[in-house]
Amino acid sequence: MARRLCLITGASAGIGAEFARQYAALGWDLALTARRTDRLDALAQELETAHGISAITIAQDLAVPGAVDAILSTLERKERHVDALVNNAGYGLPGTFFNTSWDEQAAFMRVLYTAPVELAHKVLPGMAERRYGRIINVASLAGYAAGSAGHTLYASVKAGLIKFSESLNAECVASGQTDIHCTALCPGFTWSEFHDVNGTREDTNKMPKWMWMEAAPVVKAGIDAVNRGEPVIVPGGANKALATLTRILPEPIGRAMVGAQSKRYRRTEV
Ligand SMILES: NC(=O)c1ccc[n+]([C@@H]2O[C@H](COP(=O)([O-])OP(=O)(O)OC[C@H]3O[C@@H](n4cnc5c(N)ncnc54)[C@H](OP(=O)(O)O)[C@@H]3O)[C@@H](O)[C@H]2O)c1
Repeated sequence: MARRLCLITGASAGIGAEFARQYAALGWDLALTARRTDRLDALAQELETAHGISAITIAQDLAVPGAVDAILSTLERKERHVDALVNNAGYGLPGTFFNTSWDEQAAFMRVLYTAPVELAHKVLPGMAERRYGRIINVASLAGYAAGSAGHTLYASVKAGLIKFSESLNAECVASGQTDIHCTALCPGFTWSEFHDVNGTREDTNKMPKWMWMEAAPVVKAGIDAVNRGEPVIVPGGANKALATLTRILPEPIGRAMVGAQSKRYRRTEV
């Protein structure tokens, strides 16, 4: 019998590459997608050799309309179906709503929201037919916290992914699909290339060490949670405490706290 296959977006770095490593170690085949093919190919080769699995690499920019269909038709041509989907690709868009272009904001929403929900919508029928599926949406602790100046849509798309995951998971339960689960994974600060890409590395390096996690435990928490059927998981004790604080603090206090800290991890200049 063919091994199960996990499709991972944003697999060329950080949390996505770690998802590839952990699913490969569990004996899954992989479909790895991102824009940087050289990195995907190197990772695929490493994991095929280390774990005897098979890995397909697909170069796609998720900001380009039609990218989701292009990824899925590549898999169809190879006669592979998606048993697990990890919607992970993402970045922060520095600047405010005023000093960024609509093209930049539209591309941001396609990569971080439209492509993930489109992928989920298009792989679900096959999962339902086979009565097995796992969908992990990599959201963020930012989806819990108050919005702040800079990276304007980041908190809102991550909040959207959390609500989407809860609804989709509830629909799977309600329809009797007891082995199809959807989970929003909500990391806090995680070591990856994320803060290098959005230009906040120098400032985020000043954040206290207790606020940071390695990608490995973040990813393990996501895989374990989706297997348990939990709709949302916040990895790590410190992040769990922060998520709880966002719920119990009066909203003006939460907003003031985020406002005071956000200059360290959100850029308003472009
Ligand atoms: N690191 C954190 O502190 C943190 C905290 C909370 C949530 N997150 C979330 O975790 C996810 C992964 O981020 P990370 O920390 O692992 O960052 P990362 O190391 O910068 O990796 C981001 C990945 O997304 C891919 N990507 C970016 N734009 C893309 C596009 N237009 N089309 C296709 N792929 C694209 C990148 O690949 P290419 O450049 O090769 O295309 C890369 O593989 C993101 O959704 C992020 O919002 C991160």
